[in-house]
Parts: sequence; structure tokens; C-alpha cells
Amino acid sequence: MVNLSAMEKESQTMSFQPSYANQNSSPDKRIFDTRVNLCGLTLDNPVIPASGTFGYGQEFAKLYDINILGSISFKGTTPNERFGNPLPRIAECPQGMLNSVGLQNPGVEVVTARELPELAKIYSKPVIANISGFSIEDYVTCAKAMDKENQVGIIEVNISCPNVHNGGMAFGTSAREAAEVTEAVMSVTSKPVFMKLSPNVTDVAGIAKACEDAGAAGISLINTLLGMRIDINRRKPVLANKMGGFSGPAIFPVALRMVYQVSQAVDIPIIGMGGVSSADDVIEMMMAGATAVQIGAANLVNPYICKEIIEELPEKMKALGIQNINEIIGVIE
Ligand SMILES: Cc1cc2nc3c(=O)[nH]c(=O)nc-3n(C[C@H](O)[C@H](O)[C@H](O)COP(=O)(O)O)c2cc1C
Repeated sequence: MVNLSAMEKESQTMSFQPSYANQNSSPDKRIFDTRVNLCGLTLDNPVIPASGTFGYGQEFAKLYDINILGSISFKGTTPNERFGNPLPRIAECPQGMLNSVGLQNPGVEVVTARELPELAKIYSKPVIANISGFSIEDYVTCAKAMDKENQVGIIEVNISCPNVHNGGMAFGTSAREAAEVTEAVMSVTSKPVFMKLSPNVTDVAGIAKACEDAGAAGISLINTLLGMRIDINRRKPVLANKMGGFSGPAIFPVALRMVYQVSQAVDIPIIGMGGVSSADDVIEMMMAGATAVQIGAANLVNPYICKEIIEELPEKMKALGIQNINEIIGVIE
């Protein structure tokens, strides 16, 4: 797991040359078009760091020019400040990690007054505002605030967190409630709304379809899978919260299957994520039906991963005979 202060030290000692600066002048790479379109928003490439694994970009901007990214989905915002869950809230697992961070964030007022202006200084493209809540009113409060932000190109609504009004179930586990949140958010913003779905369901395609029918502009999936580890010496759960969200390379086949199922059920664009850690994974996710791809846990293992994938994509496209990356979106029947 990466330690951000260690990352800062590393960035001071490394003499790293940004090879992407030459991307457009390289004759080989120039002919491979990596641009994708998300609801009218043109991204230079489909690679987006996933919410909660890239903060507001500041630590990563010390390591490389983050303007190469297609976009950024910043940390989930709630109406009020949240300190998150008690420690320990991270458990490493083979090929993945469990987290129970618990939506730690400074609250929507501070995000819009402090974090977004700071982000605008280091990143000049439209960003994705990930919002969370424990009631429909929470989502509406955050969506209204994000609607006023010029740099926010898309609102991504995380409906995988508990709904306190309904016995602790997540909005994302019921098609009816997912549609209700979609409608409520849509009614207060003119920006494209992407509903971010939970994988902890039996019929992800049905929930995606309910969101589309309620007016969603797109679907993001997947969030983390509910998991648990036990410390056998202490005879206690590793996480203070007992359970947490499992993410990282181990979940890639599950995420890919769900992206494929949803792409068969809806006509709106999909942002695919879950275990993506290479350019090959990005291409596979797009072949399953994703228009853009988010990278989460892999940023915590290798903070350069998004940059490396963006640089590798044109070579992979060349090797696979892909001129325009849009050719491969949903090529699987
Ligand atoms: C430490 C951590 C924090 C996260 N925080 C959020 C969040 O605030 N909002 C959200 O929608 N998803 C959050 N996620 C989920 C990721 O955005 C992503 O959907 C999930 O981790 C699957 O992708 P991955 O396997 O590439 O990590 C978080 C994930 C991790 C690992």
C-alpha cells in the first residue's frame, strides 16, 4: 500500500522525464486515437482515477502532470464533514484490498470552497463529482452544490452506501430506490448524472435499467464487493468495522461480467471499473461495453499506474490493430 508522504519523498529524488509530452509528436502514436465521448464531454483518453483512491489529485500532481488523465473522479462528497470509520480500516488481501474508510471527506461546503479551487490549479479538464448520502435529501444537497461548479462535467452518484431511512439497506440494492435517487438528483442538475452501482446484488442489469428509465445519463460500475478478514491470532476481525469493501485485481472478472451484463441492458454510456490495473484491462473493459474506465486500488499500489496505462494504450492499440479506441466499445455480442 502506498504511503503518500513516502510518495512525496520519492518525487523529490526521482529525475523522471514525462515521455507523454511527446505523445502527439511520435508518428507511431499520433495515428491511434484514444479520445472517447461521455455525454458530449470529450476525454483525451478513457483513463480516470476512481473516487476515493486519488483524493483531489494533489499528492499525485507532485509525481506527474495529472493533466494527461481523461478525467478525475474525486473523493465521495457528503453534505457534512465525515471522519470516517475507526481504525484499522484497510486490510491487504492477495490480489486486492479491503477498505472501510467510511466516506471520510470534509463536507460539500469545504469541497466546493477549498478542494475544487485547489484542484482547478493543477487540473484544467472537466472532473467527475462523486456524491454520497444516507438519504435522498443528502444526494439532492450535494448535487445542487456540484451543479454550480463549472469544472464539474459529470455527477457520479454513489448509491452503494447505507440508506438510514430503510433499515440500513443501500439505495443501490433496490431498483425502485435507485430510480428514486436518480430522479431526485436529475431534478436539481442539468449536468449528466451517472449512477454508480453496487455489485452486492443479484440483478445489476435490472437496477441499471431502472436508473436509465429514471433519466440517468450513464452508469458507473462497480463499487466494492462486501468482504471480511479475521486476524486468527487475535480472534478478531481485521477491520474495526468488521466488514469492508473488497477491490483490486481479484475483482476484475466480476466487474467485467457486470459491465457486460449492464451494457446488454442499457443504451446509455458506462464507466467500467473494478480491478483494472493495466492497458490490457482497460481494453478488455471497453470490449465488454465501457466507454471509459476508472482505476481505483491500483493507484494505491503504484501511484504512476494511470500515467503508465495512458502511455501504453497507443502501443496496445497498434498491436491489436485498433486505430480509434471507440471501435472496440462493446464489440462482444
Ligand atoms: C480506499 C477506497 C476508497 C473509496 N472511496 C470511494 C468513494 O468515496 N466513493 C465511491 O463511489 N467509491 C469509492 N471507492 C470505490 C472505488 O471508486 C471503486 O469503485 C472500487 O474500488 C473498484 O475499483 P478498483 O478495484 O479499481 O479499486 C473507494 C475504494 C477504495 C479502495
